[in-house]
Amino acid sequence: MSLFGYLRSTILSKVVMAITGAVLVLYVIVHTAGNMLIFIGKDSLNSYSAFLHSLGPILWIIRAVLILSAILHIITSIKLKFENLAAKPSKYAVKNYLKAKLSSRTMIWTGIMILSFVVYHLLHFTFRTTNPQHYYPEFYQPHNAVSSIIIERFDVYRMVVLGFQNPLISIVYIVGVILVGFHLDHAIQSMFQTLGYNQKHYFPTIQKCSTTLAIIIVLCLVSIPISVLLGFIGGEI
Ligand code: HEM
Repeated sequence: MSLFGYLRSTILSKVVMAITGAVLVLYVIVHTAGNMLIFIGKDSLNSYSAFLHSLGPILWIIRAVLILSAILHIITSIKLKFENLAAKPSKYAVKNYLKAKLSSRTMIWTGIMILSFVVYHLLHFTFRTTNPQHYYPEFYQPHNAVSSIIIERFDVYRMVVLGFQNPLISIVYIVGVILVGFHLDHAIQSMFQTLGYNQKHYFPTIQKCSTTLAIIIVLCLVSIPISVLLGFIGGEI
């Protein structure tokens, strides 16, 4: 199908939203699980980060899929928003059934704010341009090393702790993560609707599961800046 064909097809656009959304949701789940290693300790988080960086070309393939998904997701959401504004009537066939929760009515706005948050987050932790003074190498001796070999690796634990010790930075992350939660809640439900799982008898279960998943992700992620601010983590820097 040509680009114009894609732009004209609402059904295809919704499928693109669902697939790219699923890729992004999956990334957030894996990223949240990886970030939880900070509670195990400095070595766990830094080893995990070193492992990801050691993936080399595989990491770049994952990044390419993520970037492509994010771009397609954003372009398609803008296109659907304009279509909805032009057509006004219901966005979904089962709109009467789906309670128009706050999260569902604010998708485009939470999406724009999440994009701003992710751009800041990448400048902060990935490109390390907003707070370069928080970026340190770690000289690390593997536990199982036979000789006194010393490896230089990126001290992601120290960077995260030093970042979140600044209350303003922590607040930006807490707000950003809550917005991600709101967005995720409705996004997962929309995804299942697009795939045709919108029947009355099991859609409430899908709603409950998506809300529970969104709450778990938010609680896990906000617990990091909160724990740093309260001094529960950070003793190892
Ligand atoms: C408290 C919340 C979060 C923390 C502590 C956190 C931590 C980090 C850290 C430390 C990195 C750099 C990893 C490295 O270079 O080794 C990173 C990268 C990244 N984070 Fe987060 N993150 C959080 C929330 C989020 C959220 C909510 C999203 C998405 C909506 C997100 C998306 C990303 C992306 C796309 C990258 C770049 C990955 C790459 O380099 O390929 N993060 N995050």
